[in-house]
Amino acid sequence: MMQSQRHPFVESLPCSCIIIIVTAVVTQVLVGVASVAVPSSNCYALDNSSRIVDFSSWIGHFFEYEGKETDVVIRFCKDVEARSQTGYVDFGRFNNFNHFVAGSGRVDFVQGYYNGDLLNCEQSYDKLGRTAQVNIICGSCLNGQCKGELGCICNVTQESSCRIFVELAIPCEKPGPRVFEGFTVGFHPRSWEIVYNGLTQLGYEKSHHDFSFTTEQTQVTLYMTAIASLSTLVRKPMIKILPEKGLEVRLSGSGATGSPPTTLTPTLLNVEWTCQEARDTPYEVNVTIPIEGYEPIQFFLAKSCEHRQDQREDSTRGWAIFGIISCIFIVASTLFCVGGFIYKTRVERLHGIDALPGMTYLSACLETASGVGYGYSRPEENGSGYASEASWERPSASAQGTKKQSTRNYGSI
Ligand SMILES: *[C@@H]1O[C@H](CO)[C@@H](O)[C@H](O)[C@H]1NC(C)=O
Ligand SMILES: *[C@@H]1O[C@H](CO)[C@@H](O)[C@H](O)[C@H]1NC(C)=O
Ligand SMILES: *[C@@H]1O[C@H](CO)[C@@H](O)[C@H](O)[C@H]1NC(C)=O
Repeated sequence: MMQSQRHPFVESLPCSCIIIIVTAVVTQVLVGVASVAVPSSNCYALDNSSRIVDFSSWIGHFFEYEGKETDVVIRFCKDVEARSQTGYVDFGRFNNFNHFVAGSGRVDFVQGYYNGDLLNCEQSYDKLGRTAQVNIICGSCLNGQCKGELGCICNVTQESSCRIFVELAIPCEKPGPRVFEGFTVGFHPRSWEIVYNGLTQLGYEKSHHDFSFTTEQTQVTLYMTAIASLSTLVRKPMIKILPEKGLEVRLSGSGATGSPPTTLTPTLLNVEWTCQEARDTPYEVNVTIPIEGYEPIQFFLAKSCEHRQDQREDSTRGWAIFGIISCIFIVASTLFCVGGFIYKTRVERLHGIDALPGMTYLSACLETASGVGYGYSRPEENGSGYASEASWERPSASAQGTKKQSTRNYGSI
């Protein structure tokens, strides 16, 4: 019970103790790796083996299919339209929220276009109006339709007046690196500002001097999650600082030791930095998280150092001063006690505990306190209407009496 209720942070504490002081040594193993940054546009997809295929250069590319009555026009990653004598009908617009994905069989990718014209399609497809599905084939149409180099629409199938299927053949872009899908890095346990779905987000794909952590911020905690079945592929993070000297960075937390993060239990990566040399431009902190069988996750944090910070020294100095003051206080109290004791034994001719400085006040206090205790029991004693209560009350009263006596004895040693 207790074990399962422990906060993830508590569980990571033992790991936190293992603080890794990162020296700026470039590891030979990772020379030549490329991180996987999110493409500049939302016109990209992951293929059936998680490789990223960036179609950014295809945005707005125009494909036209001449039908009997209506022509169908695709503006790639923008929209799908049906054009006829009576005008245009919008068959949906592109927005990549899981609407550009790997296909199956002959179809390499599938794009969804939603929220087209509503007229007479108000209730269709979960109130998304007219919609289109574009099946992308990398290569050429089966029926050998394409003449141009940049592909064409092979075929249009109308499922209803509210939904069409379009088959589009294009020479696809070369797949990029393999993306470690589902991996996130964020500043909060359930956030992914830095890495989302294995892709380093804009702003962290390289060092941006305009968005740096301030000098005063000496620590930042990052939370990492991964799909549970793939979490054991995550390795220990590495850090490279540019320039190499002047900023001390320490990593700690469960994430620093390479513990497998899952969606339910994110691992923490505490990044503590201390400015040792002031600089006009921020330091670049290059964080690389190797993933077995994938490109490493890589992101950049920028850190300003407007002035030196010898925090560790400052705090040790603080403790040292505290220690010295405590020492002085203890020595002074001892001297005062001993001096007082000697004075009382010699001059006032008191003996034993009575000669201790302040003992007169202490015994006076004890006497008052026991007097009050005695006063409390008295009303109950007086109002003893019940025999049982009275018999119970009496020993207590006598106990009070002995206590009082003992205090008197105590004072009169
Ligand atoms: C970031 O660090 C890794 C090794 O940790 C290195 O391979 C990579 O080249 C560095 N990137 C930049 C831009 O410095
Ligand atoms: C992925 O798609 C390619 C064709 O685009 C196909 O040859 C390959 O078998 C597919 N792999 C898997 C695992 O489905
Ligand atoms: C047109 O596409 C549909 C499916 O979208 C397919 O069943 C049909 O065979 C295709 N026709 C031609 C001529 O390619």
